[in-house]
Amino acid sequence: MKKIAVFTSGGDSPGMNACVRSVVRTAIYKGLDVYGIYHGYEGMIDGNIKRLQSGSVSNIVQRGGTILKSARSQEFRTPEGRKKAYENLVKHGIEGIVAIGGDGTFTGAKIFFEEYGIPTVGCPGTIDNDIYGTDYTIGFDTAVNTALEAIDKIRDTAAAHDRIFFIEVMGRDAGFIAVESAIGGGAEFVMVPETKTDLDAVVKSLKNLRKTKTSSIIVVAEGDEEGNAEEIMAKVKSKIKDNTKEFKVTTLGHIQRGGSPTARDRVLASRCGMAAVEGLIAGKVNCMAGIMNQEVVYTPFSDCIGKTKQLIPDQLKLIDILSI
Ligand code: F6P
Repeated sequence: MKKIAVFTSGGDSPGMNACVRSVVRTAIYKGLDVYGIYHGYEGMIDGNIKRLQSGSVSNIVQRGGTILKSARSQEFRTPEGRKKAYENLVKHGIEGIVAIGGDGTFTGAKIFFEEYGIPTVGCPGTIDNDIYGTDYTIGFDTAVNTALEAIDKIRDTAAAHDRIFFIEVMGRDAGFIAVESAIGGGAEFVMVPETKTDLDAVVKSLKNLRKTKTSSIIVVAEGDEEGNAEEIMAKVKSKIKDNTKEFKVTTLGHIQRGGSPTARDRVLASRCGMAAVEGLIAGKVNCMAGIMNQEVVYTPFSDCIGKTKQLIPDQLKLIDILSI
């Protein structure tokens, strides 16, 4: 293998740049030529592919976003789009790919490998932490810390006014950000897509809590089946029937996707990037390089996207215990 390419795709996450840097520098260290594909699969289809040097990735380890840009490509979902992408890779003589992204990225990579056979190794880049085959995904730690900083600030004003706050964090299908930011932020409740929340029980506890606490924080993952934070707040408010209490909603949104990556994310990203290139050189295909129990693990894309990563049960229990 002489030439490889790297791209970022799907929702960006803090640490993607550190991962790109690691891929580029590991490839050069190992004597490979390395190319950047811009705007994810869109760039593969449009031929937006450029040779990268070691200096191309200088001064990016600390930056959020992705210098390679990101996109969610509709055209790559079509056989015609993938054919164009393949032709562009062949034109540049690319023999291996590192795909940095989440489940959508790996779904595309798996289909593409099955159709055209270009070896691809993934790196888990998403704030959601919902990828099977790695303990943590690149960007998750930063996103949790961003959410925590916001929760701490909201707590100040919640306490000052004796209010109940519903704070919505990201996580369309997964509650990892919600659970860790709820534990770290000392929230009274967390609501996540993985488990059903009994709203009557929430109301009952809120009433009980009011004997000891004057304010409460409820962290809601955006994908919760009871609705978004605004809808959940309305339901709880109508059940609690207490006009003396004020309810507020804060939706944190895309702030969780930006910012300088934490040390943990930079190290994870750098390790995954190196492992992806080493994996390609060693003949790995159609799999993701993740870190489990501090070891590099290569997991087939089919498992990364097909198996569900479970929340840590102890963490949910902790929120119950620590909120008394
Ligand atoms: O997959 C990461 C994620 O941030 C989800 O948590 C969120 O639901 C989604 O992306 C938002 O995507 P977009 O930026 O396209 O609105």
